[in-house]
Amino acid sequence: MNVYKATEENIKAAAEIIKSGGLVAFPTETVYGLGANGLNEIAVAKIFEAKQRPTFNPLILHIASFEQINLIAEAENKIAKELIKIFWPGPLTLVLKKKKIVPEIVTAGNTTVAVRMPANKVARKLIEYSGVPVAAPSANAFGFLSPTTAEHVANQLGNKVEMILDGGSTEIGIESTIIEISDEGIFLLRPGGLPVEEIEKITGKLKTKTETQKPNSPGQLPFHYSPKIPLRFFESVKEEEISGKKKAALFFCKIKNEEEFVSVKCLSCKGDLREAAANLFSFLHELEASGAEIILAEKPPAEGLGVAILDRLTRASRRY
Ligand code: TXA
Ligand code: MG
Repeated sequence: MNVYKATEENIKAAAEIIKSGGLVAFPTETVYGLGANGLNEIAVAKIFEAKQRPTFNPLILHIASFEQINLIAEAENKIAKELIKIFWPGPLTLVLKKKKIVPEIVTAGNTTVAVRMPANKVARKLIEYSGVPVAAPSANAFGFLSPTTAEHVANQLGNKVEMILDGGSTEIGIESTIIEISDEGIFLLRPGGLPVEEIEKITGKLKTKTETQKPNSPGQLPFHYSPKIPLRFFESVKEEEISGKKKAALFFCKIKNEEEFVSVKCLSCKGDLREAAANLFSFLHELEASGAEIILAEKPPAEGLGVAILDRLTRASRRY
């Protein structure tokens, strides 16, 4: 069994796994997280693979020091600073403008990033010893309950993570409260472990997203990125949709007819789904900016991470 008591020695070993691109489940004061180096695309792709989520959801980056936030997000906003001063470390996640260093797979292509400094000591030491922000969703398999003990994690993801750090039951037991701070205002994205009333003492009444902005399911969140030009699959595109247009192409593993396109990308020349997932959002951004009027995409195999990639491309293909 790969469950280890969260001793100093084991936390250090777990940090080495994170540094080398592996997955570690660890306790926080809210729920257990499934962590990876948040600056390493391939490591982050492994999170989605392990959770078997059929879609990409943006992830929270966990930090251990106040300085670390400046590496990954714009935190100059006065209210953001105030909330950080009062509620961190603790069960509050802030969604802020992201900095370039944050890989697109972490934010699912969004220009914002979610950041949290957990209060749990094991979590903080793990992040500190890893030396990087740790990307971590709740450590449950897709469609299962969030885990509040190491045993819950072991039952759901035991064979998918290199190590599970056992720090006992989590104190709060529900996920962090998520607040987005943007030029449009301060929004409550998810109620959670920190009562909204506490936050509103600082921020005033929080806004919520309107009906049209509201997510029906996480994969349909309005802030999910889709390219700003139409995308179609090669196999179903109609001639009239592309004739006379500048085209870009997103191939899965082999580039074909390169000369027909103004820009061409190949998600993974080795046909490796992790690499393909890691490249997906940044390549879509590049193709969108290439001067093309339409993107033609090749379907990846619908297995493992290919399911989530296909989901994202299908959503993009329905957008225009
Ligand atoms: O308590 C928690 O927050 C736990 C522990 C492990 O820290 N983590 C957690 O992560 O609940 P997860 O991935 O299960 O939920 C994170 C939520 C998702 O619903 C996601 O859509 C949202 O945060 N989120 C992440 N980045 C976002 C962004 N840039 N904009 C809006 N929402 C974001
Ligand atoms: Mg979750």
